[in-house]
Amino acid sequence: MADTTKHFQIHTNVLSDMKAFFSVIRTRRSVVFAYGCMLSFIAFTIFLAFNPNGSSSPWLNNFFTSNSTSEKSQYSSFFSYFFPNSQSSVDSTEELNTTRSFNHSSESPERKEIVGRNQSDILNSTHSLVKEERNGTGKDLEKGKKENLKTGSLKKCDIFDGKWVRDDSYPLYREGSCSFIDEQYNCFLNGRPDRDYQKLRWQPNGCNIPRLNATDMLERLRGRRLVFVGDSLNRNMWESLVCILKNSIKNKTKVYEASGKHEFRTQKFYSFVFEDYNCSVEFSWSPFLVQEWEIAGVNGTTKETLRLDLIEKSSSSYKQADIIIFNTGHWWTHEKTSKGKDYYQEGSHVYEELNVVEAFRKALTTWGRWVDANVHPNRTLVFFRGYSATHFSGGRWNSGGQCNTETEPIKNETYLEPYPSKMTAFESVMRGMKTPLLYLNITRMTDYRKDGHPSVYRKQNLTQEERRSPERFQDCSHWCLPGVPDAWNELLYAQLLLML
Ligand SMILES: *[C@@H]1O[C@H](CO)[C@@H](O)[C@H](O)[C@H]1NC(C)=O
Ligand SMILES: *[C@@H]1O[C@H](CO)[C@@H](O)[C@H](O)[C@H]1NC(C)=O
Ligand SMILES: *[C@@H]1O[C@H](CO)[C@@H](O)[C@H](O)[C@H]1NC(C)=O
Ligand SMILES: *[C@@H]1O[C@H](CO)[C@@H](O)[C@H](O)[C@H]1NC(C)=O
Ligand SMILES: *[C@@H]1O[C@H](CO)[C@@H](O)[C@H](O)[C@H]1NC(C)=O
Ligand SMILES: *[C@@H]1O[C@H](CO)[C@@H](O)[C@H](O)[C@H]1NC(C)=O
Ligand SMILES: *[C@@H]1O[C@H](CO)[C@@H](O)[C@H](O)[C@H]1NC(C)=O
Ligand SMILES: *[C@@H]1O[C@H](CO)[C@@H](O)[C@H](O)[C@H]1NC(C)=O
Ligand SMILES: *[C@@H]1O[C@H](CO)[C@@H](O)[C@H](O)[C@H]1NC(C)=O
Ligand SMILES: *[C@@H]1O[C@H](CO)[C@@H](O)[C@H](O)[C@H]1NC(C)=O
Ligand SMILES: *[C@@H]1O[C@H](CO)[C@@H](O)[C@H](O)[C@H]1NC(C)=O
Ligand SMILES: *[C@@H]1O[C@H](CO)[C@@H](O)[C@H](O)[C@H]1NC(C)=O
Repeated sequence: MADTTKHFQIHTNVLSDMKAFFSVIRTRRSVVFAYGCMLSFIAFTIFLAFNPNGSSSPWLNNFFTSNSTSEKSQYSSFFSYFFPNSQSSVDSTEELNTTRSFNHSSESPERKEIVGRNQSDILNSTHSLVKEERNGTGKDLEKGKKENLKTGSLKKCDIFDGKWVRDDSYPLYREGSCSFIDEQYNCFLNGRPDRDYQKLRWQPNGCNIPRLNATDMLERLRGRRLVFVGDSLNRNMWESLVCILKNSIKNKTKVYEASGKHEFRTQKFYSFVFEDYNCSVEFSWSPFLVQEWEIAGVNGTTKETLRLDLIEKSSSSYKQADIIIFNTGHWWTHEKTSKGKDYYQEGSHVYEELNVVEAFRKALTTWGRWVDANVHPNRTLVFFRGYSATHFSGGRWNSGGQCNTETEPIKNETYLEPYPSKMTAFESVMRGMKTPLLYLNITRMTDYRKDGHPSVYRKQNLTQEERRSPERFQDCSHWCLPGVPDAWNELLYAQLLLML
């Protein structure tokens, strides 16, 4: 079994070059050998998926619960509009109740209210999704329309259940055209020869999603602040969105980093301004969402711990943003976090040992309580982006794990990994929150994409040692841009169409 499960390892130092490239390991050694083992694993996972705790799918529509005064009721599936995912059956009592209305008084009148559309508006904007359907991409528009209507529209469709299809009208911006892409994600600049990885779009099974229209998205973001909060995978997504949006702007000098920064890796905070739209797309570094801490060790030394009970420090700087997209995950696979010995702290208590999933759940609970207490649901849309898959084959990030020969996604679902237990923990935290959370459940869609990582094309100039054996130092964790995070942003856009 060990061969088929993930082996994780991660870095602690954001500034460390080599370490920053690699976060997580997956061993895909000898998949054929592992097949029998995998089957039982998958059977077990399916069993878990049908367990009572895992069967609801409150991803999109639990958003429409915004009555902060009726907290208790918002936990219930009735008020949360838990919609079935593709695997579970439809319960009619959980269908959208179109008689519900959402009143709201604006705290700051100059600010556009995000939440509070009534149901018919939302239904209408859902239908407009069909109108905005892409065409000329090999997809039958009428068929798509029918599909959307049949499935009761995008709103009820699990847009994360789908497949990657070739589409030559992609990518959304030309490779090498966006100066805001970090070297570490800029595979084109770093000499990656193949291109097919840029020409795949995500096709949900139950409906169609529109192609991301950057002009339209900027219009919807007008006057607003969108903030990504999380680790380098969220920075990956942030750079993708900035490039997609920038591509639609004619006068590029009207898109800039607010304080003139030109590199996007070493600082804790960045903000891109889109002047014509008076909006910003920001990134705030926070790999755990909770606070890294230090306590006195022996002999006057200090010892690093992680405060599971404290939200990270910069949280107050974005709590009033209009849209926040959180993530955390890969840093919980680091040796310290995964071993959990003398590392996790609550109050003055440092756990001698704590299971990483339990620690993750505690941290997210702290985060969820902070969101419930500090983020105003009438003003702010809160997203959580799920775990992004990695594809280190034949070793770990620091011991020769590879993905550089991959030029196609995984086709056989047998080789997909089970849904991570950390994400199951996240889902249980989400269900306990009163803030309606939008969950970008991208784990599985990324798991297909073994072809999307920078691998050896992670920098321009390799060191002597790297040059001798470039395959030993690969990034199979982050994503090339243009690439996979563009599709996450397309899913983000699809959801924003229903909200803004
Ligand atoms: C997220 O996707 C996984 C499949 O990858 C599924 O098992 C899980 O139930 C989904 N979660 C939600 C909340 O829809
Ligand atoms: C929202 O809260 C107010 C005040 O408690 C209550 O009167 C109203 O019925 C609630 N609305 C919904 C839709 O729950
Ligand atoms: C929808 O809401 C109305 C009024 O609140 C209620 O009478 C009706 O039973 C609800 N329908 C469902 C299916 O929940
Ligand atoms: C938020 O929205 C709810 C329901 O739409 C409303 O009852 C409440 O008064 C609003 N709160 C504020 C502070 O606007
Ligand atoms: C809330 O909405 C209902 C139905 O749309 C309306 O009758 C009521 O007057 C509204 N209340 C407030 C405070 O706006
Ligand atoms: C939906 O939009 C159309 C026009 O865009 C309008 O005529 C219709 O009344 C709307 N329906 C609802 C339920 O608001
Ligand atoms: C896309 O649709 C528009 C209007 O519906 C049409 O004018 C255009 O020719 C279509 N493009 C392709 C490539 O089919
Ligand atoms: C994109 O959105 C803009 C603004 O809403 C609109 O004018 C334009 O036609 C859209 N482009 C496409 C290809 O749909
Ligand atoms: C682009 O924007 C800058 C700054 O607003 C302005 O100085 C410049 O004239 C603009 N260029 C064009 C071609 O519009
Ligand atoms: C602490 O210092 C003492 C004396 O200098 C030394 O004997 C001991 O090994 C040190 N302990 C640790 C854990 O470094
Ligand atoms: C997937 O892979 C397994 C194991 O190699 C094989 O038995 C199965 O036939 C494959 N399925 C498809 C659809 O190719
Ligand atoms: C890589 O090396 C070339 C030639 O020495 C140099 O011009 C370039 O600036 C280097 N790039 C980076 C990112 O260091």
